Amino acid sequence: MPHVSLNDGPTPMYDSFGRHLHYLRVSLTDACNLRCVYCMPEDIIFRPASTLLQDDEILILLRVAASLGVDKVRFTGGEPTVRRGIVALVQAVKTIPGIERLTMTTNGIRLAELARPLAEAGLDQVNVSIDTLDPVKFRQITRRGDLDEVWRGVAAAEAAGLRPIKLNCVVTRGFNDGDVVELARLTLTRPWNVRFIELMPLGKVADFQQSQVVPSVETRATIEAALGPLALVPGHNGHDPAKSYRLDGAIGQLGFISSVTEPFCEGCNRLRLTADGRLRLCLLRDDEVDLLTPLRSGADFETLRRLMAEGAYHKPWGHRLEQHEIATSREMSQIGG
Ligand code: 5AD
Ligand code: SF4
Repeated sequence: MPHVSLNDGPTPMYDSFGRHLHYLRVSLTDACNLRCVYCMPEDIIFRPASTLLQDDEILILLRVAASLGVDKVRFTGGEPTVRRGIVALVQAVKTIPGIERLTMTTNGIRLAELARPLAEAGLDQVNVSIDTLDPVKFRQITRRGDLDEVWRGVAAAEAAGLRPIKLNCVVTRGFNDGDVVELARLTLTRPWNVRFIELMPLGKVADFQQSQVVPSVETRATIEAALGPLALVPGHNGHDPAKSYRLDGAIGQLGFISSVTEPFCEGCNRLRLTADGRLRLCLLRDDEVDLLTPLRSGADFETLRRLMAEGAYHKPWGHRLEQHEIATSREMSQIGG
């Protein structure tokens, strides 16, 4: 059992493998204004809002997390910007002592309008998902999105100071595996961090995801064949899932996140909170701790703290994809990547 002390300062959370867990990714909603092919089935039905954590519940759980040493929070979704009251929520989270960094992963569609208010509310940085520079393919992948809106969002985020801009590209065979070159080329002239993510299998679209995965080695080779050799950026932070590279003469960087072919469980420092109030211990495993039920039945701060710390202690190690075990209890959009 983990040791949870009752003194004032934060008590750091460790799991049974000795990993220090201090980064919490919070899914604010499973809903999204896009329907990316690799993320959700087209006919997905989103959860009724009443089953999701309310703002005050999120704030309680984040205070609990901060008391356990969580200092970094990322809002994810679905799409976090479709949640009502997102700006006020950002502002409230920034007042929680101990939470030093608050960031967001977004599809960028609403950023043109929201980047400035979010930055003013204290948001520190955004990752924007963008899988292709081709508007027609973008619409195919997202089943409805307008790429121009995303670019307006990226420009607004940059102007609002939400830097460094990170662009996330999920590489999907047959959809955008050739587009990685043009995305990588952006780093020659922009101070951006463009990151290529291996498609991960999860939920109902797992068969599709598994058949279309492109290993990072292949993506890297495609980019090098077109744009020349990539130099490894020294000083890799062991908790960053991305390995960083630079094209010759580039001002931005490229990152490769190889969750499937080269898992980085050793450096994992994160926990996830799903929009329906479960502490999810690993993205690719179904182990979860229900915090919503105790929260709604009046559990006090110390009880929630103990539940969170005990859950964290049991964080599993490794996905089991080689053993053909796939987490199926949720879609990616219900966890937030
Ligand atoms: N595999 C890898 N990344 C995914 N994302 C969504 N679904 C998957 C998947 N199956 C990414 C999105 C976004 C982030 C939230 O997760 O593109 O960048
Ligand atoms: Fe929405 Fe992101 Fe999923 Fe695409 S990947 S459907 S933008 S949550």
